[in-house]
Amino acid sequence: MPTRDILALPAWARIGDARRAHVQRVAALLSEWGGAMAVDRSEQERWRRAAALHDAVKDAPRAFLREIAPDAWGLDKLRHGPAAAELARRDGERDEGVLDAVRYHSVGYARWDRVGRMLYMADYLEPGRRHRPAEIGGLADSVAADPDGALCAVARLRVGHNVSLGHPLLPETVAFWNALACDE
Ligand SMILES: [Fe+2]
Ligand SMILES: [Fe+2]
Repeated sequence: MPTRDILALPAWARIGDARRAHVQRVAALLSEWGGAMAVDRSEQERWRRAAALHDAVKDAPRAFLREIAPDAWGLDKLRHGPAAAELARRDGERDEGVLDAVRYHSVGYARWDRVGRMLYMADYLEPGRRHRPAEIGGLADSVAADPDGALCAVARLRVGHNVSLGHPLLPETVAFWNALACDE
């Protein structure tokens, strides 16, 4: 899939070229899925905004992110999602589903609507990701036909990776996983 600029980032974005390319690939994948799933224009627009916002301040200085998102589970690497959601809210974004998609994109969220779930998958499955385990090769192609099954597969990989590293799981991640009720 070609990486082309299909969306504009917010004016307050602080993002380098590599991250910008990732964001464009996430948006392109969401656009591809939206088309394949015949999702209506207003919902696809929500997906587009979530993609544009989610990593918009990932390359911002740590002090700035701490100022904007002082809580963020106390983990600097997870601060860019809550910070982007807060900046988007200040900038006029009023769609709580989009804001939740952005806020929790690194950790999962049990009460996501479709935009949060789609962003969670696209962020992980976009083709530029390095170090992708071989088993996710066909997952991106399965999303349109079976989004629930693909979400379970992606969550299993993302949550399982954290477990394998010995990282404690955040309450939001545990609640998200439990709410999925994936088959064994
Ligand atoms: Fe991120
Ligand atoms: Fe991302």
